[in-house]
Amino acid sequence: MSLTGKAVWLTGASSGIGEALVPALLDAGVRLTISARRADALADVAARHPGASLHVLPLDVTDREAVHRAASDVRAQWGHIDIALFNAGTHIPVQAQTWSADDFRALIDVNYMSLVYGVEAVLPDMLARRQGHIAGVASVAGYRALPTAAAYGASKAAAILMLDALRFDVERQGIAVSVINPGFVRTPLTDRNRFHMPGIIDAPRAAALIVRGLEHRAREIHFPALFSWTMKLLRVLPYPLYHRLVMWNTPE
Ligand SMILES: NC(=O)c1ccc[n+]([C@@H]2O[C@H](COP(=O)([O-])OP(=O)(O)OC[C@H]3O[C@@H](n4cnc5c(N)ncnc54)[C@H](OP(=O)(O)O)[C@@H]3O)[C@@H](O)[C@H]2O)c1
Repeated sequence: MSLTGKAVWLTGASSGIGEALVPALLDAGVRLTISARRADALADVAARHPGASLHVLPLDVTDREAVHRAASDVRAQWGHIDIALFNAGTHIPVQAQTWSADDFRALIDVNYMSLVYGVEAVLPDMLARRQGHIAGVASVAGYRALPTAAAYGASKAAAILMLDALRFDVERQGIAVSVINPGFVRTPLTDRNRFHMPGIIDAPRAAALIVRGLEHRAREIHFPALFSWTMKLLRVLPYPLYHRLVMWNTPE
Protein backbone atom coordinates (compact mmCIF):
# COMPACT_ATOMS: atom_id res chain seq x y z
CA MET A 1 0.00 0.00 0.00
CA SER A 2 1.40 3.39 -0.99
CA LEU A 3 2.22 5.79 1.84
CA THR A 4 1.54 8.84 -0.31
CA GLY A 5 -0.53 11.40 1.58
CA LYS A 6 -0.62 9.35 4.81
CA ALA A 7 -0.43 11.29 8.07
CA VAL A 8 2.43 9.80 10.07
CA TRP A 9 3.53 10.52 13.65
CA LEU A 10 7.12 9.48 14.29
CA THR A 11 8.78 9.53 17.73
CA GLY A 12 12.51 9.47 18.36
CA ALA A 13 13.13 11.52 15.22
CA SER A 14 16.03 13.62 16.56
CA SER A 15 18.75 11.04 15.96
CA GLY A 16 19.66 7.59 14.67
CA ILE A 17 17.02 5.42 13.01
CA GLY A 18 14.28 8.01 13.57
CA GLU A 19 16.33 10.80 12.01
CA ALA A 20 17.00 8.57 8.99
CA LEU A 21 13.29 7.76 8.76
CA VAL A 22 12.43 11.42 8.18
CA PRO A 23 13.79 11.70 4.59
CA ALA A 24 12.72 8.11 3.85
CA LEU A 25 9.12 8.82 4.89
CA LEU A 26 9.02 12.23 3.18
CA ASP A 27 10.34 10.63 -0.03
CA ALA A 28 7.44 8.17 0.25
CA GLY A 29 5.07 11.17 0.21
CA VAL A 30 3.76 11.22 3.77
CA ARG A 31 2.64 14.19 5.88
CA LEU A 32 4.89 13.89 8.90
CA THR A 33 4.95 14.95 12.54
CA ILE A 34 8.27 14.36 14.31
CA SER A 35 8.73 14.10 18.07
CA ALA A 36 11.60 13.71 20.55
CA ARG A 37 12.68 15.63 23.65
CA ARG A 38 15.37 17.84 22.04
CA ALA A 39 13.51 20.63 20.24
CA ASP A 40 16.76 22.05 18.81
CA ALA A 41 17.75 18.72 17.25
CA LEU A 42 14.24 18.32 15.77
CA ALA A 43 14.46 21.86 14.33
CA ASP A 44 17.80 20.92 12.70
CA VAL A 45 16.19 17.84 11.15
CA ALA A 46 13.25 19.91 9.89
CA ALA A 47 15.57 22.59 8.47
CA ARG A 48 17.00 19.96 6.12
CA HIS A 49 13.57 19.54 4.51
CA PRO A 50 12.32 23.04 3.64
CA GLY A 51 8.89 23.04 2.05
CA ALA A 52 8.09 19.48 3.17
CA SER A 53 4.83 18.55 4.92
CA LEU A 54 6.66 18.39 8.22
CA HIS A 55 5.40 19.33 11.67
CA VAL A 56 7.72 19.46 14.70
CA LEU A 57 6.29 18.43 18.07
CA PRO A 58 8.76 18.12 20.98
CA LEU A 59 7.70 15.45 23.48
CA ASP A 60 8.92 13.28 26.33
CA VAL A 61 7.32 9.92 25.56
CA THR A 62 7.51 8.84 29.21
CA ASP A 63 4.95 11.54 30.12
CA ARG A 64 1.53 9.94 29.63
CA GLU A 65 -0.45 13.20 29.62
CA ALA A 66 2.02 14.79 27.18
CA VAL A 67 1.70 11.81 24.84
CA HIS A 68 -2.10 12.25 24.82
CA ARG A 69 -1.77 16.00 24.18
CA ALA A 70 0.71 15.32 21.38
CA ALA A 71 -1.62 12.80 19.70
CA SER A 72 -4.39 15.44 19.78
CA ASP A 73 -1.98 18.00 18.26
CA VAL A 74 -1.07 15.60 15.44
CA ARG A 75 -4.76 14.98 14.71
CA ALA A 76 -5.40 18.74 14.77
CA GLN A 77 -2.54 19.22 12.31
CA TRP A 78 -3.45 16.50 9.77
CA GLY A 79 -7.10 15.65 10.55
CA HIS A 80 -6.24 12.15 11.79
CA ILE A 81 -3.28 9.80 12.25
CA ASP A 82 -2.82 7.09 9.61
CA ILE A 83 0.44 5.67 10.98
CA ALA A 84 1.80 6.02 14.52
CA LEU A 85 5.44 5.00 14.41
CA PHE A 86 6.75 4.72 17.96
CA ASN A 87 10.51 4.54 17.62
CA ALA A 88 11.82 6.50 20.66
CA GLY A 89 13.88 4.33 22.97
CA THR A 90 17.24 3.78 24.55
CA HIS A 91 19.60 1.19 25.99
CA ILE A 92 21.31 0.90 29.35
CA PRO A 93 23.57 -2.17 29.75
CA VAL A 94 23.27 -3.77 33.20
CA GLN A 95 25.76 -5.87 35.10
CA ALA A 96 25.43 -7.86 38.31
CA GLN A 97 27.98 -5.66 40.11
CA THR A 98 26.11 -2.41 39.39
CA TRP A 99 22.54 -3.78 39.33
CA SER A 100 20.05 -0.99 39.97
CA ALA A 101 16.28 -1.03 39.76
CA ASP A 102 16.50 2.55 38.46
CA ASP A 103 17.90 1.28 35.14
CA PHE A 104 15.06 -1.20 34.78
CA ARG A 105 12.42 1.40 35.56
CA ALA A 106 13.99 3.89 33.14
CA LEU A 107 14.03 1.38 30.27
CA ILE A 108 10.56 0.05 30.97
CA ASP A 109 9.31 3.66 30.94
CA VAL A 110 10.97 4.71 27.68
CA ASN A 111 10.95 1.43 25.72
CA TYR A 112 7.67 -0.07 26.88
CA MET A 113 5.28 2.24 28.77
CA SER A 114 5.79 4.92 26.12
CA LEU A 115 4.30 2.48 23.58
CA VAL A 116 1.41 1.71 25.90
CA TYR A 117 0.76 5.47 26.27
CA GLY A 118 1.06 5.92 22.50
CA VAL A 119 -1.43 3.14 21.77
CA GLU A 120 -3.79 4.54 24.42
CA ALA A 121 -3.58 7.95 22.73
CA VAL A 122 -4.12 6.89 19.09
CA LEU A 123 -6.25 3.74 19.27
CA PRO A 124 -9.73 5.14 20.08
CA ASP A 125 -9.72 7.38 17.00
CA MET A 126 -8.36 4.57 14.81
CA LEU A 127 -11.06 2.19 16.10
CA ALA A 128 -13.74 4.81 15.41
CA ARG A 129 -12.40 5.27 11.86
CA ARG A 130 -11.85 1.50 11.44
CA GLN A 131 -8.46 2.21 9.92
CA GLY A 132 -4.94 3.02 10.99
CA HIS A 133 -1.54 1.51 11.54
CA ILE A 134 0.43 1.28 14.79
CA ALA A 135 4.13 0.41 14.54
CA GLY A 136 6.56 0.06 17.43
CA VAL A 137 10.32 -0.32 17.34
CA ALA A 138 11.40 -3.17 19.62
CA SER A 139 14.58 -5.20 18.96
CA VAL A 140 15.86 -8.69 18.20
CA ALA A 141 17.25 -8.35 21.76
CA GLY A 142 13.66 -8.96 22.84
CA TYR A 143 13.65 -12.47 21.36
CA ARG A 144 15.73 -14.16 24.05
CA ALA A 145 18.00 -13.31 27.00
CA LEU A 146 21.42 -11.87 26.15
CA PRO A 147 24.33 -10.84 28.41
CA THR A 148 24.04 -7.29 29.88
CA ALA A 149 20.55 -6.97 28.35
CA ALA A 150 18.46 -7.92 31.39
CA ALA A 151 16.75 -4.52 31.42
CA TYR A 152 16.84 -3.68 27.71
CA GLY A 153 15.83 -7.17 26.55
CA ALA A 154 12.99 -7.34 29.06
CA SER A 155 11.63 -3.97 27.94
CA LYS A 156 11.81 -4.97 24.28
CA ALA A 157 10.32 -8.43 24.91
CA ALA A 158 7.42 -6.70 26.67
CA ALA A 159 6.98 -4.37 23.69
CA ILE A 160 6.92 -7.28 21.22
CA LEU A 161 4.42 -9.24 23.30
CA MET A 162 2.15 -6.25 23.89
CA LEU A 163 1.97 -5.33 20.19
CA ASP A 164 1.49 -8.95 19.09
CA ALA A 165 -1.37 -9.29 21.60
CA LEU A 166 -2.95 -6.00 20.53
CA ARG A 167 -3.01 -7.18 16.93
CA PHE A 168 -5.45 -10.02 17.78
CA ASP A 169 -7.93 -7.39 18.99
CA VAL A 170 -7.69 -4.82 16.23
CA GLU A 171 -6.70 -6.50 12.97
CA ARG A 172 -10.29 -7.46 12.07
CA GLN A 173 -11.25 -3.82 12.62
CA GLY A 174 -8.94 -2.61 9.88
CA ILE A 175 -5.99 -1.61 12.06
CA ALA A 176 -2.52 -2.95 11.28
CA VAL A 177 0.09 -3.50 13.99
CA SER A 178 3.75 -3.79 13.04
CA VAL A 179 6.54 -4.86 15.37
CA ILE A 180 9.90 -3.60 14.14
CA ASN A 181 12.85 -5.69 15.33
CA PRO A 182 16.20 -4.28 14.17
CA GLY A 183 19.50 -6.04 14.68
CA PHE A 184 22.51 -3.72 14.97
CA VAL A 185 22.14 -0.32 13.29
CA ARG A 186 24.90 2.33 13.33
CA THR A 187 23.48 5.20 15.42
CA PRO A 188 24.58 7.31 18.42
CA LEU A 189 23.14 4.50 20.56
CA THR A 190 25.41 1.78 19.17
CA ASP A 191 28.40 4.15 18.72
CA ARG A 192 28.85 3.65 22.47
CA ASN A 193 29.36 -0.11 22.08
CA ARG A 194 32.93 -1.36 22.34
CA PHE A 195 32.21 -4.89 21.07
CA HIS A 196 31.90 -6.34 17.57
CA MET A 197 28.36 -5.85 16.24
CA PRO A 198 27.68 -8.59 13.67
CA GLY A 199 25.87 -7.56 10.51
CA ILE A 200 25.63 -3.87 11.51
CA ILE A 201 23.90 -1.68 8.91
CA ASP A 202 23.59 2.09 8.40
CA ALA A 203 20.53 4.00 9.64
CA PRO A 204 19.36 5.00 6.11
CA ARG A 205 19.32 1.30 5.14
CA ALA A 206 17.30 0.50 8.27
CA ALA A 207 14.92 3.35 7.45
CA ALA A 208 14.43 2.07 3.89
CA LEU A 209 13.61 -1.43 5.20
CA ILE A 210 11.16 0.00 7.73
CA VAL A 211 9.38 2.08 5.08
CA ARG A 212 9.10 -0.97 2.81
CA GLY A 213 7.66 -2.99 5.70
CA LEU A 214 5.15 -0.24 6.51
CA GLU A 215 4.06 -0.17 2.85
CA HIS A 216 3.30 -3.90 3.17
CA ARG A 217 1.65 -3.42 6.58
CA ALA A 218 3.98 -6.23 7.70
CA ARG A 219 3.25 -7.77 11.11
CA GLU A 220 6.98 -7.97 11.79
CA ILE A 221 9.75 -5.95 10.15
CA HIS A 222 13.11 -7.49 11.06
CA PHE A 223 16.57 -6.89 9.68
CA PRO A 224 19.32 -7.34 8.60
CA ALA A 225 18.00 -10.65 7.28
CA LEU A 226 20.94 -12.95 8.02
CA PHE A 227 21.34 -11.66 11.57
CA SER A 228 17.66 -11.48 12.46
CA TRP A 229 16.95 -14.96 11.04
CA THR A 230 19.91 -16.31 13.05
CA MET A 231 18.43 -14.73 16.18
CA LYS A 232 15.07 -16.34 15.36
CA LEU A 233 16.76 -19.71 14.99
CA LEU A 234 18.50 -19.28 18.35
CA ARG A 235 15.08 -18.58 19.88
CA VAL A 236 13.91 -22.14 19.17
CA LEU A 237 17.01 -23.88 20.59
CA PRO A 238 16.44 -25.79 23.84
CA TYR A 239 17.59 -23.53 26.66
CA PRO A 240 20.62 -25.62 27.81
CA LEU A 241 22.03 -25.53 24.29
CA TYR A 242 21.29 -21.80 23.93
CA HIS A 243 22.92 -21.08 27.30
CA ARG A 244 26.05 -22.99 26.32
CA LEU A 245 26.28 -21.21 22.96
CA VAL A 246 25.95 -17.76 24.51
CA MET A 247 28.50 -18.58 27.24
CA TRP A 248 30.99 -19.78 24.60
CA ASN A 249 30.67 -16.42 22.87
CA THR A 250 30.80 -14.28 26.02
CA PRO A 251 34.29 -13.21 27.19
CA GLU A 252 34.95 -13.56 30.97
N1 LIG B 1 20.63 1.09 16.88
C1 LIG B 1 20.38 -0.21 17.03
O1 LIG B 1 21.25 -1.06 16.77
C2 LIG B 1 19.02 -0.67 17.50
C3 LIG B 1 18.75 -2.04 17.47
C4 LIG B 1 17.52 -2.48 17.89
C5 LIG B 1 16.56 -1.58 18.30
N2 LIG B 1 16.84 -0.26 18.32
C6 LIG B 1 15.79 0.65 18.76
O2 LIG B 1 15.60 1.64 17.78
C7 LIG B 1 15.08 2.83 18.38
C8 LIG B 1 15.92 4.01 17.95
O3 LIG B 1 17.24 3.79 18.42
P1 LIG B 1 18.52 4.52 17.80
O4 LIG B 1 19.57 3.49 17.67
O5 LIG B 1 18.14 5.33 16.63
O6 LIG B 1 18.94 5.43 19.06
P2 LIG B 1 19.28 6.98 19.20
O7 LIG B 1 20.11 7.46 18.06
O8 LIG B 1 19.79 7.13 20.58
O9 LIG B 1 17.84 7.66 19.06
C9 LIG B 1 16.88 7.52 20.06
C10 LIG B 1 15.77 8.49 19.80
O10 LIG B 1 14.78 8.34 20.82
C11 LIG B 1 14.52 9.61 21.40
N3 LIG B 1 14.15 9.48 22.80
C12 LIG B 1 14.83 8.84 23.79
N4 LIG B 1 14.19 8.99 24.96
C13 LIG B 1 13.08 9.73 24.70
C14 LIG B 1 12.04 10.24 25.50
N5 LIG B 1 11.97 10.00 26.83
N6 LIG B 1 11.07 10.96 24.92
C15 LIG B 1 11.11 11.22 23.58
N7 LIG B 1 12.07 10.76 22.77
C16 LIG B 1 13.06 10.04 23.33
C17 LIG B 1 15.82 10.40 21.23
O11 LIG B 1 15.56 11.79 21.19
P3 LIG B 1 15.80 12.83 22.38
O12 LIG B 1 17.08 12.46 23.07
O13 LIG B 1 15.87 14.15 21.65
O14 LIG B 1 14.61 12.72 23.25
C18 LIG B 1 16.23 9.94 19.84
O15 LIG B 1 15.57 10.68 18.86
C19 LIG B 1 15.11 2.57 19.90
O16 LIG B 1 13.83 2.15 20.31
C20 LIG B 1 16.12 1.44 20.02
O17 LIG B 1 15.92 0.67 21.20
C21 LIG B 1 18.05 0.23 17.93
